Amino acid sequence: MKLKSDFLWGGSIAAHQVEGAWDEDGKGPAIMDFVTAGEYGQARGIHKSIQAGVRYPSHTGIDFYHRYPEDIKLFAEMGFTALRISIDWSRIYPQGDDSTPNKAGIEFYQNLVDELLKYKIKPIVTLYHFEMPINLVRKYGSWENRQVVDHYLRFCETMFRALKGKVSYWVTFNEMNHIDPQSEASDIFTYIIAGLKYSELTNKAQTLATIGYHMTLASCAAVELGHKIDPENKIGCVFGIEPVYPINSDPDNILTAFKQMDRDFYQIDAMCKRKFPQYKLAEYKDQGIELVISTADQEIFKNGSIDFIGMNYYASSVAEYKGAQEKNSALFGGLQNPFLPTSKWGWAIDPVGLRYLLNYTYRKYELPIMITENGLGAIDQIDSDGQIHDSYRIDYLSKHIQEMKKAIEIDQVNCIGYLTWGPIDLVSATTGQMSKRYGFIYVDLDDQGLGTLKRTKKASFDWYQKVIESSGTQL
Ligand code: BG6
Repeated sequence: MKLKSDFLWGGSIAAHQVEGAWDEDGKGPAIMDFVTAGEYGQARGIHKSIQAGVRYPSHTGIDFYHRYPEDIKLFAEMGFTALRISIDWSRIYPQGDDSTPNKAGIEFYQNLVDELLKYKIKPIVTLYHFEMPINLVRKYGSWENRQVVDHYLRFCETMFRALKGKVSYWVTFNEMNHIDPQSEASDIFTYIIAGLKYSELTNKAQTLATIGYHMTLASCAAVELGHKIDPENKIGCVFGIEPVYPINSDPDNILTAFKQMDRDFYQIDAMCKRKFPQYKLAEYKDQGIELVISTADQEIFKNGSIDFIGMNYYASSVAEYKGAQEKNSALFGGLQNPFLPTSKWGWAIDPVGLRYLLNYTYRKYELPIMITENGLGAIDQIDSDGQIHDSYRIDYLSKHIQEMKKAIEIDQVNCIGYLTWGPIDLVSATTGQMSKRYGFIYVDLDDQGLGTLKRTKKASFDWYQKVIESSGTQL
């Protein structure tokens, strides 16, 4: 298998990390609008209300809301054939449960999609990338409440109809599998996904399981709905997956690593195998967790299986068995791999892990896989010649693309696209920093929110342009 001529090359961004304009044109407040900037080792603050004089990075983003024509022109210059964007739910239904959608919000995304189509860039539209109206958390208690599933589906229906015929690739959710941070010290993961602080949950295991279940169900119901509205729609779900390696050949460690991978895969199982996995239900029962699964739900699982799997890949991790309570992994505060270098933020750099993961996932489901995020968060310096020579980024991406190609060409994995994370610098989700940069395009904005917002091409811009032009042969 070679890279097909319609292989998708491009990048991924998310509304709350780029748009800004947090209260413009009828947008309501969303969960990430209450989160301050942090840094590595210093968590982002999660506020109950907006405080004067505090910087909330989502309020300004990189001003993509007003500058997207300029940014898309640059993506087109690089030769992008796809851009993954997300729709901010709170632009469409400002309170989440409004009786009618906000026309200005819909128009914004219609115009954005038209701008992409003008350059023959395929829009890949994520319907939920951490952008829930805060009202749904305050009034309903977030995804723990089944009614939120119905509000989400109404929002999905509005967008499936508004962009019908223009968008054929959809993503129901981004990284719902990261709901469980496994540590009191890290509130951001549960908050990002569901607007709730992990440390404040009273019955943690039950709440997270219920949320995970409702989101999985919502994804399947959205797939069914999207197929009904337009049978041409290809609808997937995106997962942030890290391969987990056992620390050594002790069988207990091997089993622990295997089980930790289940944590990232049980929802994919539910979405591909047309039923909620029995092994997960048994595990829940063992922990005293109860889920209500109706016959109607079972039908939804049957009818809503996904068309492709979206894979966000950054790092791998290592597991070691430490008794029945063991549940650690590197990205979420566990063990580092002594064979691998790490980024400045401690994420293990493991290109071979991508080949492993593509094989692991494809052999399990035999569904097309789209790499929906991959990239290196790094600090960029502007050199004396005014240029940004980001050879470290080129090195990271080049090695990952090489391994992806091996998975496709040697291992016969059906991988349909490669999208880098943050092709233009944007706000980091976990730290809120601007200085954790992923882009081919530099944005003049610092962690304090100061800067001209001017866009400048980095060395990697020309490099990625050649990669795309040569269909991945010039790396
Ligand atoms: C993914 C998310 O998990 O990782 C993105 O989908 C996020 O929203 C990306 O930005 C990189 O993480 P960070 O914390 O470096 O921004």
